[in-house]
Amino acid sequence: MAGGVTGGAAGAWSDRFEQGLHPFIEAFNASIGFDLMLLQEDLDGSIAHARMLASCGVIAEEEAVQLVDGLETIRLEAAEGRFNPGIADEDVHFAVERRLIALVGSVGKKLHTGRSRNDQVGTDMRLWLRRRLDEIDHYLQRLQRALLDQADRHQTTMIPGYTHLQRAQPLCLAHHLLAYIEMLQRDRERLEDVRRRVNICPLGAAALAGTPVPIDRRRTAENLGFDAIYANSLDAVSDRDFCVEFSAAASLVMAHLSRLAEEVIAWASEEFGFVQLSDRCATGSSLMPQKKNPDVPELVRGKCGRVFGHLQGLLTMIKGLPLAYNKDFQEDKEALFDAYRTTRDCVEAMAILFEEGLEFRIERLNQAVESDFSNSTDVADYLVARGVPFREAYQLVGAVVRRCLDQGCLLRELSLEQWKELHPAFEADLHDALAPRAVVSARRSEGGTGFDRVQEQIMLWQKRLKDSAVGR
Ligand code: ARG
Repeated sequence: MAGGVTGGAAGAWSDRFEQGLHPFIEAFNASIGFDLMLLQEDLDGSIAHARMLASCGVIAEEEAVQLVDGLETIRLEAAEGRFNPGIADEDVHFAVERRLIALVGSVGKKLHTGRSRNDQVGTDMRLWLRRRLDEIDHYLQRLQRALLDQADRHQTTMIPGYTHLQRAQPLCLAHHLLAYIEMLQRDRERLEDVRRRVNICPLGAAALAGTPVPIDRRRTAENLGFDAIYANSLDAVSDRDFCVEFSAAASLVMAHLSRLAEEVIAWASEEFGFVQLSDRCATGSSLMPQKKNPDVPELVRGKCGRVFGHLQGLLTMIKGLPLAYNKDFQEDKEALFDAYRTTRDCVEAMAILFEEGLEFRIERLNQAVESDFSNSTDVADYLVARGVPFREAYQLVGAVVRRCLDQGCLLRELSLEQWKELHPAFEADLHDALAPRAVVSARRSEGGTGFDRVQEQIMLWQKRLKDSAVGR
């Protein structure tokens, strides 16, 4: 400790410093308030580093044992709530080092040989994110399963399909749900891809230029489960691309969840009435006794802004930074932690919502597709199948729809004579062809909503999701 220096992290600095930090600046500078989140990873990284130092002959074996024991003691203390560093410790790295020295004595001062907080914090962040990526994948998979179970239950339920939020064509409900499973799969693939670049080890890049200490970077990297090491020490300590990449991938997850959330909110409204929210996942109003509110999907939709914001914040933080480490990087943590926490929580909330928070109202849904003009395209297709050019059929059906709207009736309410007047190709089988179930069944093209096609997809996904890996 520097002689005469009181207060704050000054104790960590070299004797160059004569004065302690201004108390406000000390708090302003400190990251301990949030980077304690990296404690486990910091300990893991330090343990690997200590072992490597011994195996390279930089420190003695017994010294490494003492260091590792001390670090494990800190882990235990933390688990028992007895490791509570304060502002004066500045950050998790200093806090651990100080406690270690207090526990094991002067050998603790050897731990920081051949490394810097710059490569240390980069290592911690990557280890932390790697674990969290695996966790998010688990929750995404759970949401996929919840959606798939609903799809399985609703293989024959229909739902109006919309474009521009105008009734377009009837769909098999399972097909609609499967669309989200596909989106989530792309999300999982993107996160897996992010993981590949997260899993590269910067440790040993030291402050920025490497170290004269004869370390073995590959050994620590391997011990910590990294796939590779950074080839360039400057890049190693100043790369935060992985934080941006994660936030971008998480933003897309959130965007997808938000779209699904929006649909649930609409479906739960009196106007749609397609789903019933269960008491376990809905809330009441403090004033209006009749209300049951879809708070869960609303919160998911609302929380998107945080994750999108973190993406923007991180990009802006990196932009214009000269090589190598800059303190700006300390700002990566709260953004990354919150982007992760928010995304993970929203995925879990949506999974619970689809597991037990809502029920599709089958009658209402099937009935909804009966009473609209969403079978108009099928009248045109009917004529096409009988040799009428599509554009001509399209014009004709448009005129029929207008006539029906004027008369206040549906297509199926027109008599065969009326149809025949419109075009001689119409026959008695038209009515059957116009039934919503027939309309859905007919869409057998690959990727279409035809019940058979949808069943195939459900079976495919059941097989895929049995396996926990992302791969298709
Ligand atoms: N708390 C710092 C951070 O989060 C650790 C690295 C500090 N490095 C430095 N050169 N001041 O970025």
